[in-house]
Amino acid sequence: MSDINKLAVLVSGNGSNLQSIIDSINLGEISAKISLVISNVESAYALTRAKKENLNHAFLDHKKFFSRESFDHEIGELLIKHEVDLIVLAGFMRILSKSFIKKFNKKIINIHPSLLPKYPGLKTHEKVMRNKDKYHGVTIHLVDEGLDSGPIIAQAKFKTSKYKDIDSLIIKIHSVEHKLYPLILKKIVDREIDLLKLNGKNFNCYEDGFDF
Ligand code: GRF
Repeated sequence: MSDINKLAVLVSGNGSNLQSIIDSINLGEISAKISLVISNVESAYALTRAKKENLNHAFLDHKKFFSRESFDHEIGELLIKHEVDLIVLAGFMRILSKSFIKKFNKKIINIHPSLLPKYPGLKTHEKVMRNKDKYHGVTIHLVDEGLDSGPIIAQAKFKTSKYKDIDSLIIKIHSVEHKLYPLILKKIVDREIDLLKLNGKNFNCYEDGFDF
């Protein structure tokens, strides 16, 4: 049995990536459980998904905290209480403090809708369109102190030529995310990917033709 058994998923929005992870666990593809879902947005549909699945969930309003550090400290307390092994960011729209990242060093992963290091931050699809990029894609990376800058764990890329507007690009990106995140989580839980040994170079890269 892997020693990564307990996941926490941090969310702020729709939670379609959370759902893809839940579905994959329910199908027996990932040998781990979601011990906790945390949202900083009370109305996030991700919380409804957690409730429907009877998952432990918490809403923490960052606006009620004196500082980023105190908000993150509270999250950390919950993670420790639930003995979480891996923190999975899935559309969590908060930058985590340095102290939090240090405390959970190499235990936080994120999914980002671009081929990092291209386009960290927001509005990635718009940038791909504007720059007429030949490729767009998804990156899963370890979270470090920078913005979407930690060592890359995996990428999936596709040709943009078929996608004529932002909406179709977003639909495609989501379908890629919903396959890539569960797949890579499985590899992490099964220890095929060791988060302590990432070198930022030889990451898994899936291209058109892979079963997306
Ligand atoms: C995803 O596109 C993810 O890459 C980004 O935020 C979005 C979250 O979508 N970090 P959802 O809430 O999982 O549907």
